[in-house]
Amino acid sequence: MATTLGFDVYGTLIDTNGVLTALKRLVGDKALAFSQTWRDKQLEYSFRRGLMQNYQTFAVCTSQALDYICDFHRVSLTDEQKAELLSIYRVLPAFSDVQEGLSQLKEAGFRLYAFSNGKADALELLLNSAGVRDLFLGVVSVDDIKVFKPSPATYGHFLRQARATGGSAWLISSNPFDVIGAISAGMKAAWVKRYPEAIFDPWGIEPTTIVKSLVELREQITKCESVLE
Ligand code: LAC
Repeated sequence: MATTLGFDVYGTLIDTNGVLTALKRLVGDKALAFSQTWRDKQLEYSFRRGLMQNYQTFAVCTSQALDYICDFHRVSLTDEQKAELLSIYRVLPAFSDVQEGLSQLKEAGFRLYAFSNGKADALELLLNSAGVRDLFLGVVSVDDIKVFKPSPATYGHFLRQARATGGSAWLISSNPFDVIGAISAGMKAAWVKRYPEAIFDPWGIEPTTIVKSLVELREQITKCESVLE
């Protein structure tokens, strides 16, 4: 059976720093720190909601994290300005290597899926506006089961939706928590080290492979598959 690849979306395919231009206008010098802490808080809220079994959509986590981060950085944004930031978040750009990397993998016969904490309608809009939706066989959202990554249930859900087994499926993610979650759930996983300063969690659970760009994936995955066979 052809190998299935599930791509994390936010931070892996889609650049969450794409809000920076608007943030520079709204919060000036704090823009970069604001963007990074907003992303961290969004993920923290998703983890906490998972632990508390108190699910709200990822968009709610994003919006509530924005309110928190405004207070944290002591910036006061109007409701209209917050709405503007959230609407930019719905149509963030893809990283520059995504189109080429995915096209190569598709041509090589891999089965490509997007697999994310985002809701399916939000993912369709995001991937369409970034011009990469057509490269995927499908979009799998954790919203179907109302629990966030890295719950093992989300990786099981992905495998069922993609009609794959852990042994024939990879998660591709820039998020170390996601890579560790997928490996723990029996999948293989590539860590996309998007920034040289990115750090992998020292849990003793290593990625199957590490790449700097999606353009390296075809060769790396093919090599790993032939060694593992
Ligand atoms: C996602 C987040 C975890 O797209 O980046 O699932």
